[in-house]
Amino acid sequence: MAQEVRGVIAPGKNEPVRVETIVVPDPGPGEAVVRVQACGVCHTDLHYKQGGINDEFPFLLGHEAAGVVESVGEGVTDVAPGDFVILNWRAVCGKCRACERGRPWYCFDTHNARQKMTLTDGTELSPALGIGAFAEKTLVAAGQCTKVDPSVSPAVAGLLGCGVMAGIGAAINTGSVGRGDSVAVIGCGGVGDAAIAGAYLAGAAKVIAVDIDDRKLETARTMGATHTVNSKETDPVEAIRELTGGFGADVVIDAVGRPETYKQAFYARDLAGTVVLVGVPTPEMKLELPLLDVFGRGGALKSSWYGDCLPSRDFPMLIDLHLQGRLPLDKFVTETIQLDEVEKAFERMHRGDVLRSVVVL
Ligand SMILES: NC(=O)c1ccc[n+]([C@@H]2O[C@H](COP(=O)([O-])OP(=O)(O)OC[C@H]3O[C@@H](n4cnc5c(N)ncnc54)[C@H](O)[C@@H]3O)[C@@H](O)[C@H]2O)c1
Ligand SMILES: [Zn+2]
Ligand SMILES: [Zn+2]
Repeated sequence: MAQEVRGVIAPGKNEPVRVETIVVPDPGPGEAVVRVQACGVCHTDLHYKQGGINDEFPFLLGHEAAGVVESVGEGVTDVAPGDFVILNWRAVCGKCRACERGRPWYCFDTHNARQKMTLTDGTELSPALGIGAFAEKTLVAAGQCTKVDPSVSPAVAGLLGCGVMAGIGAAINTGSVGRGDSVAVIGCGGVGDAAIAGAYLAGAAKVIAVDIDDRKLETARTMGATHTVNSKETDPVEAIRELTGGFGADVVIDAVGRPETYKQAFYARDLAGTVVLVGVPTPEMKLELPLLDVFGRGGALKSSWYGDCLPSRDFPMLIDLHLQGRLPLDKFVTETIQLDEVEKAFERMHRGDVLRSVVVL
């Protein structure tokens, strides 16, 4: 029997979001229904509401979530009712050319639930990133559920489902930060701070945080930044070079995703160093660089999709590290809110007042 629950929808471009009754079908083959316990408010949800992702309104927002599996469909063996899970937006297929080559974190054919959640009048909803978890329950592909230690707080766990995983993974997976490395992170929001925490965890000797907002730099210090640079006041390339013996950092992570921050990252890295782009640019942005500099400076220019994470490998490990007191995931939760407060949370996010507001249910 399909069930009716409350959920937050974005009805149309730039219209305020609102709580509506959502119809959640029973899970079909390969699907699961999850009782959502917490879901963080991410910039991508705001982009959906603004029509910046696509125009498939109405959207069921929310995608940084954790909860308990309520029921599973035919053929589901990896998770069972009662399991505590973090939802991920890249359920790997196991069959595409990336998966077959043993690189499933690049999977080129990730999937979501086949059935649609709807409004009570039958209007089909587009769930944000194939999740839609600002809702009491949601329908996903079973592969989007990753079991982790249930003793962690759901509000903390859910954040690993998107931005925090992207940031940590940008440092430890894509950037391969290792013991003794110097690392600079440009943009210290949720993603950049997570990259800082990841670099610290990986044993970086120097972690330089760059932002244009002093409040963000203060928080970055609590995540493991050893130095901070306000790039509104100081040239960040000069500052990073000065802090690294005149050379530049081994790994520079751009967690903003604009041509100017990418150029800063490019020139603030040491010869043969690595640039990681984890911030997401918009379609009109263009990058111009002397090709000779691209060659002459060597090293690697990489992009990081979802922190190149493999949920089944990375989520349980990071939750364990958190529970052991080695990864301060709780510091990312600025406030907890109710379903009907998402619109206000967007405003606070826009003003830069919060790292993450988390809806708890
Ligand atoms: N690659 C992925 O899989 C992935 C996943 C989630 C989010 N993201 C992207 O990561 C980016 C950051 O997300 P977030 O949640 O941290 O956003 P956020 O808005 O919380 O943080 C952005 C930070 O960048 C700072 N900033 C803005 N312009 C700057 C500049 N010119 N120089 C230095 N700092 C600047 C802001 O002050 C803020 O602290 C976004 O583009 C988001 O879409 C990527
Ligand atoms: Zn695949
Ligand atoms: Zn997100």
